[in-house]
Amino acid sequence: MLTSLADLPMRKASGPKLAVLTAYDYPTARVLDEAGVDLLLVGDSLGMVVLGLPDTTGVTMEMMLHHTTAVCRGAKRAPVIADLPFASYLTAETAVSNAKRLMECGAACVKLEGGVSMLPQVEAIIAAGIPFVGHVGMLPQSVKEEGGYKKKGKTTESIEHLLADVRALDQAGAAAIVLESIVPEVAARMTAEVKASTIGIGAGSGTDGQVLVTPDLLGSFPWFRPPFAKARADVAGETLRAVREYMAEVQG
Ligand code: KIV
Repeated sequence: MLTSLADLPMRKASGPKLAVLTAYDYPTARVLDEAGVDLLLVGDSLGMVVLGLPDTTGVTMEMMLHHTTAVCRGAKRAPVIADLPFASYLTAETAVSNAKRLMECGAACVKLEGGVSMLPQVEAIIAAGIPFVGHVGMLPQSVKEEGGYKKKGKTTESIEHLLADVRALDQAGAAAIVLESIVPEVAARMTAEVKASTIGIGAGSGTDGQVLVTPDLLGSFPWFRPPFAKARADVAGETLRAVREYMAEVQG
């Protein structure tokens, strides 16, 4: 069970693989922490699975600060990764000042989306002494530019871009890199090439760890679940049952 980001290289070398989950509030963070989850991610998936937005581009710094503070109160042991939201890291200066605000909430590190194109921002964050997690492959904050959520690593050109992105982030000093929606063999190759721990989502089993959006795992957001995410509970169904039982008792 991870207690510090400093243990990541040891886990990459000798396992076990990292089990990472998202959290957006205090009780969930506290339960996941007690369960022994290695890292908690306050993802900007917050926008969809908590706030009912159509995608992550409507998530603001204020929303991230509010939810990161709550998660950090619940996470007594697990290091917390906080997402820099859409348009909060357009320059190196804004990236550093917004990363500092998330760290002041209690986060252990910050994450932003992009590789080579984001190097000035990434280098500035790391130079400011802020531990950094990268995110390459399918980038949800670029969904509008890309015209949808598309798997990466299907062509030679795409594979070269992905490799360049992870190498750049690794050389800059990223502690970990999320690999999202990437052809599994390519994600495994990226994992073998870098010192940083890779954390996959929809990228096969050849990464150093896995991350899931917790409502997908718990079945608490039943209206959409990506095909790779296996629901291991039916929280929405159980909530409906309990609410109907309560209503029947009250209303007779
Ligand atoms: O926002 C998020 O939950 C994420 C995961 C999908 C990795 O970035």
